[in-house]
Amino acid sequence: MALKNTKVWIVQDKQPNAAGKTDEMDESLHEAGDTLRLGGLVAFPTETVYGLGANALMTEAVEDIFQAKGRPSDNPLIVHVASETDLEELVLPYPPLAARLMERFWPGPLTIVLPVRPNVLSPLVTAGLPTVGVRKPDHPVALQLIKLAGCPVAAPSANRSGRPSPTLASHVLEDLAGRIDGIIDGGATGVGLESTVVELEGEHGIRILRPGGVTAEAIRLAFPDAEVISELESDAAPEQPRSPGMKYTHYAPKGELAIVQGKPEAVISYVNEQARQWKADGVTTGVLSFSERASRYDADLVLDLGSESRLEDAAHRLYSALRRFDEAGIGRIWSEACPAVGIGGALMNRLVKAAGGTIFELDK
Ligand code: TXA
Ligand code: MG
Repeated sequence: MALKNTKVWIVQDKQPNAAGKTDEMDESLHEAGDTLRLGGLVAFPTETVYGLGANALMTEAVEDIFQAKGRPSDNPLIVHVASETDLEELVLPYPPLAARLMERFWPGPLTIVLPVRPNVLSPLVTAGLPTVGVRKPDHPVALQLIKLAGCPVAAPSANRSGRPSPTLASHVLEDLAGRIDGIIDGGATGVGLESTVVELEGEHGIRILRPGGVTAEAIRLAFPDAEVISELESDAAPEQPRSPGMKYTHYAPKGELAIVQGKPEAVISYVNEQARQWKADGVTTGVLSFSERASRYDADLVLDLGSESRLEDAAHRLYSALRRFDEAGIGRIWSEACPAVGIGGALMNRLVKAAGGTIFELDK
């Protein structure tokens, strides 16, 4: 692949004018929007993670996404829209419950899988499925960019396949500089984990295919009449997962990561003893901990996810932390666990994936 000159448009920390944005920001987003519409690849911030956008109507552009990321072609992309009206052209009529989900959670970190309208989107977007995942992101830069591009924007997370999703522009550049046309640097993303992906089942069922920024609890609270199904199929490991992305090992740090679960004192002594032994063998060690106990660990690099009473902070920091272990060349990493409640559900889902399923249960 020929190296591209990746342009960086900085839109953060600019003083907004009365209309809420600067002229410079306007100019950058216009240029980025044109690049997208004409078939280029542009990374942009959303409220979840940075996305790598392409014009979803252009097969060549979408093909470039798979190339740049090194992504398997049977893993479909999420299409981002700036309005519900723009959506109508892309999908077939959908059930009222889908419309109610949009009303309640859009713009926001909820991707809804809907029946795709034939012959509109590039077939590469849906990887041959009769459905398409769509969302309207809750980020002023993303919304403005999609509007200016004037096309639906297919965008996976802007990382190389198998790396943690990017929550900063610098993460995107680490992975994709020279492979994409540009990136809009809008500072740190909000949630820090990807959107929740849901599919409707019958008239009242909402199946969570990937936990994320909109929690199962929030959906249940908003729709007490609906049946929210949140056991993840990846646990059952079916032949043909409904959300193809769930079958790939994701977010794996270069070092071996294990999750250690149990009473806090037991976890601390187990991890410290393990770290001592591995260090003695010349292996660099790392611990991913909540603030409550971070000072109690003895390893080469201890990263603090924030208080376990504020799991939003941990979600926001997780991917950055995984990248830092890589940068430091840490060979063995142990992570504390948290209850899979609220955003903790998505957090544990990503941690377990990053650990390739390795969990030590000390109480048993
Ligand atoms: O927060 C996010 O969702 C970010 C930002 C950029 O919007 N995007 C993102 O995209 O995480 P990606 O490609 O990394 O993950 C998309 C997930 C995959 O697990 C994929 O299999 C699933 O959504 N997906 C996409 N289309 C689908 C469909 N038609 N049916 C089932 N799952 C689908
Ligand atoms: Mg991804």
